[in-house]
Amino acid sequence: MAQNKHNEKYLDQALMLSNKVKKKHKHLNKRYSKQNIDIFRLYDWDIPEIRAVVDWYSGHLVVAEYARKNSDPAWLPVMAGAVAQTLGVDMAKVHLKKRYSGYQDGNRYERVAHTDKKIVMSERDLEFYINLHDYVDTGLFSDHRNTRQMVRQMAQGKDFLNLYCYTGAFSCYAAKGGAKTTVSVDRSDTAIQWAKENMELNGISLKENTLVKAHTFDFLEKARKKGQMFDLAVVDPPSFSSSRDSRHHFDIARDHPALLKSVVELMRKDSDSTIFFSTNHQDFELYMDKFVVGESSGSKRPERPERSEKPERSGLETGASEDGSFETQRCFVRQIREITPMTIPEDYRTPKKKIHRCWKIIV
Ligand SMILES: C[S@@+](CC[C@H](N)C(=O)[O-])C[C@H]1O[C@@H](n2cnc3c(N)ncnc32)[C@H](O)[C@@H]1O
Repeated sequence: MAQNKHNEKYLDQALMLSNKVKKKHKHLNKRYSKQNIDIFRLYDWDIPEIRAVVDWYSGHLVVAEYARKNSDPAWLPVMAGAVAQTLGVDMAKVHLKKRYSGYQDGNRYERVAHTDKKIVMSERDLEFYINLHDYVDTGLFSDHRNTRQMVRQMAQGKDFLNLYCYTGAFSCYAAKGGAKTTVSVDRSDTAIQWAKENMELNGISLKENTLVKAHTFDFLEKARKKGQMFDLAVVDPPSFSSSRDSRHHFDIARDHPALLKSVVELMRKDSDSTIFFSTNHQDFELYMDKFVVGESSGSKRPERPERSEKPERSGLETGASEDGSFETQRCFVRQIREITPMTIPEDYRTPKKKIHRCWKIIV
């Protein structure tokens, strides 16, 4: 009896979900096929009791549950089955995942299977390898496809730095946009190998486009010592990352001033060097008091010197203090502007949450 009630509830939810997804797919598929965009979002927990996220991958579906302790393993297959049927997708092309919120970012990049099966999908005139089986994330964060386009439009002739590069999508866009050089940094072998494959897939030369397997802060320190400089950068770290070596523990809420300060130090100061900084941490607050801003668009304007009296940049010192927190001096930049609305594509806009936040920092 209780089981029947359950089943009925699940079937009602499945019907609601598939109706919503069907409408969204009809609208978005038309729009995105014209732009040659294969991957887009169809549903993200829009109905409170349906804690699912549904992504379209060119005829494949990734259906995930925002899991809880008391999640019923029978629920997700019912939702996914209904969505697949509505969209006419064979169950062999439906991929089920579980997402966990909170301090789970470190685990997001861990394997859940070992197929090593990658398929190629398009985003505009670029192509990327996608793995629908082995990880929660598939190799391309589609919520940043507009930010990637912005980077491409600014990249001509620039030296571009991509920190926490993952599969190198930002670097591929920068290279396609005419970047003089790109440097992509990630601590994961898998990510670096994947980024290399993506570059090769897009005909991008690995001579001018370097891939570095390193912890970000180690890379930044080495780059500073070498005097390496950049004009354009993307800094898109996970909210948290842990490591066997406690010096490499990273918590974006605590460590972003030190991180950004070290990046600012590597940016050329004689042109409008730009850093795109992004996070998907839901309660993130940028510590504005750590920055001395020459021009600010925020409602709360920090005291600011005129551009002509731009303060001399101090020798920057970053590093972990004894209690593990990062001590930073203040960091001088010309402008910090939150550009989140511009960077969130239509399919990722929901009233409930922002998929990511993004700032443009002009140095
Ligand atoms: C949120 S993803 C970055 C997404 C990427 N910017 C993109 O657009 O595809 C986080 C990446 O950070 C890497 N990572 C985590 N901690 C790191 C660290 N301390 N140093 C370097 N890379 C790190 C992970 O391996 C993962 O590839």
